Amino acid sequence: MKDNISTIFSSYNIRNITLKNRLAVAPLTRVSGNEDGTTGPLMKDYYQSFAQGGFGLIITEGIYTDKRYSQCYKFQTGLTDEKQVSSWKTITDAVHSCGGLIFAQLMHAGALSQYNKYSGHGGAPSAIKPLGEEMKLYYGKGDYEVPKEMSTEDIKCVVKGFVNAAILAKEAGFDGVEIHGANGYLLDQFLTVYSNKRTDEYGGELANRLRIYQEIITAVRAAVGSSMIIGVRFSQGKVNDTEYKWPKQTADAKYTFESISRCGVDYIHTTEYIAKAPAFKDSLPLAELAKEYGKVPVIANGGITHENDANCLIDAKQADIVSLGKAALANPNWPNAVQTQQQLKAFNAEMFNPIADLKTANAYFKQTL
Ligand SMILES: Cc1cc2nc3c(=O)[nH]c(=O)nc-3n(C[C@H](O)[C@H](O)[C@H](O)COP(=O)(O)O)c2cc1C
Repeated sequence: MKDNISTIFSSYNIRNITLKNRLAVAPLTRVSGNEDGTTGPLMKDYYQSFAQGGFGLIITEGIYTDKRYSQCYKFQTGLTDEKQVSSWKTITDAVHSCGGLIFAQLMHAGALSQYNKYSGHGGAPSAIKPLGEEMKLYYGKGDYEVPKEMSTEDIKCVVKGFVNAAILAKEAGFDGVEIHGANGYLLDQFLTVYSNKRTDEYGGELANRLRIYQEIITAVRAAVGSSMIIGVRFSQGKVNDTEYKWPKQTADAKYTFESISRCGVDYIHTTEYIAKAPAFKDSLPLAELAKEYGKVPVIANGGITHENDANCLIDAKQADIVSLGKAALANPNWPNAVQTQQQLKAFNAEMFNPIADLKTANAYFKQTL
């Protein structure tokens, strides 16, 4: 064990909960659920391994919020019925039994839906075909379909879906929920100028493009009360467009983080390709902009592999917590390995492939502890 305690191993409070360190597992879709949206047989060990490995917080893979249009992939899990709730409860119990904390990431796919067990492909802010192609890794094939433009009634159903899912997340024993507002999925489709051509109160200027975020956060807070943590994730890039930048740059960041923070979120989670890089030419990194304008705890994500990457962000006050994606997949015991000065494993592209590789992955996760 190392003598010097680096900042990432200091505890941190998000409102009424205490993380034992500043290290979170980033949301990582593994498409390892069952077809009915319950959690699959390998998921308990998978999530518990991160808690045993020393992570202070785990944010789950994106979980769908309603049986209408929200589902993104085959074998994605949901929080829409009691069967799904009790399957997640075994996982939250397993994580808590190891002293970990776990937040559910709630996600609506919108135009990026590649599969829907319940109904047709989803709605989106506007009937615009998404850039790029469906993700083959998650059973996608070819171009995305042109989505249906959501009516105001459809948007109300989306908000209701997030509210119901948050209530069910509480019942399932989660310590918090993270509203997925990033990476090109439904909420980000509203925020993004080229996928939102609406002329009503949900389109046009930034205040309107953020309206659905505000409605969801406010309604979720009213439903779950103050005992549950609510966070929101933002990015500029998307799974189907990695180059996108917010058009008015720092001015957009200021408006976005100030107004989202006023809705009562407990934290903001930013993801960029490289967390410490300027968000725009000569600007602060996105995480630091969120800290400056949001004035709530900030989780930074993107390209953090080594202890030094993580410590620098916290020491420079660019973030309060860091989340690790690929490095956590490769090293579910990253915090313990760093503290005991074990060599970290490099991320291997095969680890992307959740189903083909699940049995091996599961054996691997057990053997690394
Ligand atoms: C296999 C995989 C699945 C992912 N699934 C999600 C997801 O469900 N929700 C989400 O917000 N981000 C998801 N991401 C993005 C990660 O949370 C993270 O932002 C990205 O991997 C960059 O961080 P890293 O450099 O630490 O890996 C996923 C990334 C990977 C590699």
